Amino acid sequence: MSPLFTRAVRGEPVERYPVWMMRQAGRYLPGYMAVRSKTPFLELCRSPDLAAQVSLEPIERFDMDAAIVFADILLTADAMGVPVEFPAHGGPSFPHPIRTPADVERVHEPDAARTRCVADTIRILRSTLPETKAVIGFSAAPFTLCAYMIEGGSSRDFIHTRRFAHEHPDAFEELMQVSADALIPYLQEQIAAGADVLQLFDTWGAVLPPALYRRWVIPMTQHVIEGLGRGRPPVIYFPGIGSEARLEQAVETGAEALSLDWQTDLAAAYARVGNEVRLQGNLDPSLLLTTPKLIRAATTAMLKAVPAGHAHLANLGHGIHKDTPPENAAAFIETVQAFRPAAGALA
Ligand code: CP3
Repeated sequence: MSPLFTRAVRGEPVERYPVWMMRQAGRYLPGYMAVRSKTPFLELCRSPDLAAQVSLEPIERFDMDAAIVFADILLTADAMGVPVEFPAHGGPSFPHPIRTPADVERVHEPDAARTRCVADTIRILRSTLPETKAVIGFSAAPFTLCAYMIEGGSSRDFIHTRRFAHEHPDAFEELMQVSADALIPYLQEQIAAGADVLQLFDTWGAVLPPALYRRWVIPMTQHVIEGLGRGRPPVIYFPGIGSEARLEQAVETGAEALSLDWQTDLAAAYARVGNEVRLQGNLDPSLLLTTPKLIRAATTAMLKAVPAGHAHLANLGHGIHKDTPPENAAAFIETVQAFRPAAGALA
């Protein structure tokens, strides 16, 4: 039988709601910090044994229903000739961001050798984990990948990216196309290595105004999902921060599930798109900085907002915060796994 999580993403019958956390393999865990104290971030991504070890730490500790491969969405940029650095502080940084149409010309087809580590890590995870646990592979969605390459790092408003899209639509479209085309073989390699489910992160997709969103964000994501071909595993699309107004459009990508940010009203989202896709999310990660009592109450309230007949994919509304006490993460996971919806309420 497929893992509980995989069945739930496909909309098949499940015994209870599955749960995992975005960024579950990360800095709130002591084992991760111990590995990172000796290993720079990119080197960790590129060392399959160590990457598998940090992917497994949350499963060993909390027994959630899925492991996400330890890697980063920006490895693809590097493989396309846009190098990225992860300095000790301040987030990712691109020494040569894409700021002009001429810069787009130096972006090339992905060098698969530079991202092979991700498939190698997935192979270790799939052969180590029991069949009951799903292995999640992932990549950026095309827009969020391009946004980082243009912006050159994290940003509050992605002003360079928005300007570029308005000012140089042809070059922007070419960059989006090259990126989308690069993601297909990258994800296919993860499928061949044993990924049970794929998640596409479009964390900043919603920063574009509606016309540009409609023109690029959704069609290019759809292009990637379609490009994976028949027999692909189910796909979860994270349309990103501030995407609540765009859920109907996000359904058009063809993903089996949408991952909701914490600002989205869960019951309303089910009413709007719950019959077309499965939904994942969306507890506010800041709750995990509070107390187990508040976490249990908020998690139960979230699950009670799920209408009968839907197998909710419990998660946070964005990545877990690095200052989260591990026992608070445990309170979230345990509350979901103990929760039983009213009889007959599961899909
Ligand atoms: O546990 C997991 O989810 C698996 C691994 C994973 C990482 N990044 C590891 C990581 C995943 C799925 C990602 C996705 C990712 N990376 C996204 C999309 C999801 C989201 O959070 O919005 C984005 C936008 C990135 C790019 C990125 N990588 C940023 C902006 C940063 C710095 C921000 C921060 O939290 O410091 C990273 C670094 C990064 N990627 C860390 C981890 C565990 C922290 C690095 C460290 O150890 O110092």
